[in-house]
Amino acid sequence: MFVNIEKSSDKSENYEILLSNLEYYVIKGDKLITNLSNLSAFLDYFLDDINWVGFYLYDGEKLFLGPFQGLPACTSIKLGNGVCGTSAKMRQSIVVDDVHQFENHIGCDSSSNSEIVIPIIKNNELIGVLDIDSPSFSRFDNTDKLYLEKVISKLVDKLSWVLYNN
Ligand code: SME
Repeated sequence: MFVNIEKSSDKSENYEILLSNLEYYVIKGDKLITNLSNLSAFLDYFLDDINWVGFYLYDGEKLFLGPFQGLPACTSIKLGNGVCGTSAKMRQSIVVDDVHQFENHIGCDSSSNSEIVIPIIKNNELIGVLDIDSPSFSRFDNTDKLYLEKVISKLVDKLSWVLYNN
């Protein structure tokens, strides 16, 4: 059961609260799809001014749609395509202030104006990406990047090697 957690209007403090409660919703031994489902709902609860948050997973060839909160989205993305595919290929987080200026941005929800993508890598293997969209321009900054990378690092710590394809 989800116990209502008090959020903070201070961005860093809010992320600290999120991080300190993460262990109850991202659990070692649970299946990958279970942890990602709860994590997308957990991030959606904590983050304001977003219209999509979720995961794309890597199957060795392309990214495919994983658990998310938001409108239905494109089901597969080639490495190097869009913000997600570029982040996955470069294995680097990407913050986009205006998605309409990003060369090969893939528009899934027309209300999205800015975006952040964090790659998920364990033992040097690409697992997928976390993707978050906002209807506001420049919604995401370095603080978001820093904390969301911490969230993903905690997620990666909980994932067992054998759970990747489960
Ligand atoms: N905009 C993303 C595609 C995924 S949707 O936003 C959910 C991209 O350019 O990679």
